Amino acid sequence: MKSFLVSILGALLLFVSTASVAQKKTTLRKAFKKSFLIGTAINSRQINGRDSLAKSLIANEFSSISPENDLKWSVIHPQPKEYKFETADNYVALGKANKQFIVGHTLVWHSQVPNWVFVDSNNALVAKDVLYQRMKEHIETVAGRYKGKIGGWDVVNEALNDDGTMRNSRYYQIAGDEFIVKAFEYAHAVDPKAELYYNDYNMYKPEKVDGAVRIVRMLKEKGQRIDAVGMQGHWHLDSPTIEEIEKSILTLSKEGVKVVITELDISVLPNPQRNNSSNITDVAQNSQNINPYTNGLPDSVQVALAKRYEAIFGLFNKHKDKIGRVTFWGVQDGNSWKNNFPARGRTDYPLIFDRSHQPKKAYYAIIETVNK
Ligand code: XIL
Repeated sequence: MKSFLVSILGALLLFVSTASVAQKKTTLRKAFKKSFLIGTAINSRQINGRDSLAKSLIANEFSSISPENDLKWSVIHPQPKEYKFETADNYVALGKANKQFIVGHTLVWHSQVPNWVFVDSNNALVAKDVLYQRMKEHIETVAGRYKGKIGGWDVVNEALNDDGTMRNSRYYQIAGDEFIVKAFEYAHAVDPKAELYYNDYNMYKPEKVDGAVRIVRMLKEKGQRIDAVGMQGHWHLDSPTIEEIEKSILTLSKEGVKVVITELDISVLPNPQRNNSSNITDVAQNSQNINPYTNGLPDSVQVALAKRYEAIFGLFNKHKDKIGRVTFWGVQDGNSWKNNFPARGRTDYPLIFDRSHQPKKAYYAIIETVNK
């Protein structure tokens, strides 16, 4: 009897361990090899090797990396004559060591950019040629330093309003929409082989996608190459719909550009915004009723998140000929900016690895979509 029990137990143990080995055997980067690049955004601690738990996860699971903050203008070029390259250099070296496609984010954006870029010594907006000179110097220095190493740049980020009109940023106030053309011109001149992207959030909104189409056409008319349009993908459990995302992918790819999903995360928390803005200054107040899962995620929500990711990746796989890359905005839930946006200090669960760096149900669900 005893030996019977022991052998049953042994068989059970074997079954459990082979099942988990089988589940663990593949990685995202292997599973999506024939579909598209699969990336993650990494933060300074991860880049500088101070997050040892994330290290092998980043290397093994992902075929591409994006820098969450360290290549933004205010970080890499805080003063006119001051560049801080250390973390960015480490970022590029890490991608090389991991044999990953290295993304540059971002050259021209209205956020996380120093005030001095736009003003003179009297704090008045500078003339167009002064702005262009500063943009040119910045782009030549940063994109030039990583020429041949960074495979693609978010050249311009978030230049559109949700209704498809141009955002009234200081770039726009000084130069009109020509600043976009100039940014692409400078980026192409310094590294002709790097891919060049226009990137924005809420790209499921048809009017906004029409705005992106206008940007693509304007660039082409002016003789500038654009390789892909980035849909950031800061989404929710119930919005946008798969149909909305699909329409945008189709509309953009008809323009002869690839689509890249650049900043994917799916918030499971109540959404305090009506406009789904990912503009980093559009903050909301935190309160208990919009922060319900501080003690852990209920299984029902975990399952709902997995189903949502499954549907989204089902769509991505269906259109893998149009999609160049899908990048998650963060490695694991604990790193996600969604814990602090749009409301600060919440506990969100928007990624596919949990706070212990373990794959969530969503991880297995998206891998399953490859063979469907
Ligand atoms: C976010 C980062 O994740 C945060 O750490 C930072 O505090 C603010 O910016 N759109 C973008 C990204 O293009 O650069 C933003 O990243 C998120 C919204």
